[in-house]
Amino acid sequence: MTERLESDEAGIRRAAALLRAGGLVGFATETVYGLGADATNARAVARIFEAKERPRFNPLICHFSSADAAFLHVVADARAEALAAAFWPGPLTLVLPRRDSSPVSAIAAADLPSLAVRVPDHQVARRLLELVGRPVAAPSANRSGRVSPTIADHVLADLDGRIDAVLDSGATRVGLESSVLDLTGPIAVLLRPGGCTREAIEAVIDEVSVAAADTAVRAPGMLRSHYAPRLKLRLGAVAVGDDEALLGFGPDAPPARLTINLSARGDLIEAAANFFGALRRIDEEATALGLAGIAVSPIPDQGIGVAINDRLGRAAAPRF
Ligand code: TXA
Ligand code: MG
Repeated sequence: MTERLESDEAGIRRAAALLRAGGLVGFATETVYGLGADATNARAVARIFEAKERPRFNPLICHFSSADAAFLHVVADARAEALAAAFWPGPLTLVLPRRDSSPVSAIAAADLPSLAVRVPDHQVARRLLELVGRPVAAPSANRSGRVSPTIADHVLADLDGRIDAVLDSGATRVGLESSVLDLTGPIAVLLRPGGCTREAIEAVIDEVSVAAADTAVRAPGMLRSHYAPRLKLRLGAVAVGDDEALLGFGPDAPPARLTINLSARGDLIEAAANFFGALRRIDEEATALGLAGIAVSPIPDQGIGVAINDRLGRAAAPRF
């Protein structure tokens, strides 16, 4: 049985005790819900991979309550220090060389010499991390390949009975996962666009390159097909077929038998916050109506729109 915990002090304490005992707990961050485990406990981390049916070669992000706590486990250079000062707590994950002294289990980092670290901007998450007092490995709390969860019900829909508890903190604010920035080489590489935009990162450090779509080796988790809905997505649609639903954006969305608009006023931040929930809902409702596919309005490729388009591309990619 999976406990649903309220995110008051008692609930957070219960969640922390479960994590310290090797349990799995879903909790909200500002981006999406994570599935947490004590990163120093190899058995607990192994349970994450089982519960999610996640490939073992896909490393996890370690979460901390402060930059000081995070940097005990990795070697932070001047770029990392500056980015942490600018964006933590917040939706930016830094991949850095791991310190030999770090007790994070090898399985959490998929045996890589680097470690992904982040400090989430969410009161409940940070209190939880403080109480656990250890690094918490947390991938998004969905089954591998499915849509990321932005409310506690999404977590239970995928993982009920497979995890010990979920701390219910309502809807997450950003709605898309953190940006993942690789700082292990001389040039920073954006492995995954996310809640922290490239423009914002480039305002703090000089040069950022963007990983090609299929950098399977550098970011093993960046599978081309991900977030897979049941129905086929057709991106950049300006008209909608009779047998299609519309995932719309902006005030001029064309008519359709079923429409969910990510942001009727054309606001990318609002669209990002609504994105995963809307994708789940339109997939269910369009399937129930017997529609054949989902047309998606064009999304401007700027700011957090880049991250939305990245997720759409993976959701539309053929599955293998
Ligand atoms: O917003 C987020 O980042 C959420 C919340 C829960 O914090 N977490 C999340 O985790 O999205 P996950 O496991 O779904 O995505 C982690 C990404 C994967 O693409 C993984 O391959 C990459 O980070 N990653 C982790 N460690 C890495 C490493 N050492 N080198 C390169 N990529 C790494
Ligand atoms: Mg994920």
